[in-house]
Amino acid sequence: MKPIGPLMWEHRLIERMIRAVKVEIERINRENTVNPVAVDVAVDFIRTYADRTHHGKEEDILFREMKKKKLTPEHARIMDELMEEHREGRKTVARLVAAKEQYLKGDTSAVATVVECLRWLTEFYPKHIAKEDKGFFYPILSYFSEDEQKAMLEEFWEFDRKMIHEKYNRAVDAFEDGRF
Ligand SMILES: [Fe+2]
Ligand SMILES: [Fe+2]
Repeated sequence: MKPIGPLMWEHRLIERMIRAVKVEIERINRENTVNPVAVDVAVDFIRTYADRTHHGKEEDILFREMKKKKLTPEHARIMDELMEEHREGRKTVARLVAAKEQYLKGDTSAVATVVECLRWLTEFYPKHIAKEDKGFFYPILSYFSEDEQKAMLEEFWEFDRKMIHEKYNRAVDAFEDGRF
């Protein structure tokens, strides 16, 4: 299996979540209410799965290995863009969490910001994923030998294996500190 295999499966699950988020946006617009639990579930998915687990493998392993190679200017540019997009995604999720907190304090004007952030995410992910799936992941494989690809795939599995422990270690840290 190619190391981009797991990354592309993960894209498919992210797309499913994006479709579900679109349905939730329609509900918010109809009812003008925020369901904080739905926002929490979406934020946990994006932070833990889409960002830490998925973007983590891209940035901490695939891109790290790419930086050791002599990339074409085009591939170097796309890699920089992808990392910048990951950062923009993190900022939007932070804004979404802040808006949900405002809403919980009784500020109904925060509904518009929640919708704006959710909509941004539903537009961002399909474009970001298409950039990786269609014009990047396959061509960049040619920088790597079969052995290098195998080593990367092994590192992906190890990275994933650690995730559940990292997530719940953080959950206990937060719980101990009273951060819910
Ligand atoms: Fe990405
Ligand atoms: Fe990706």
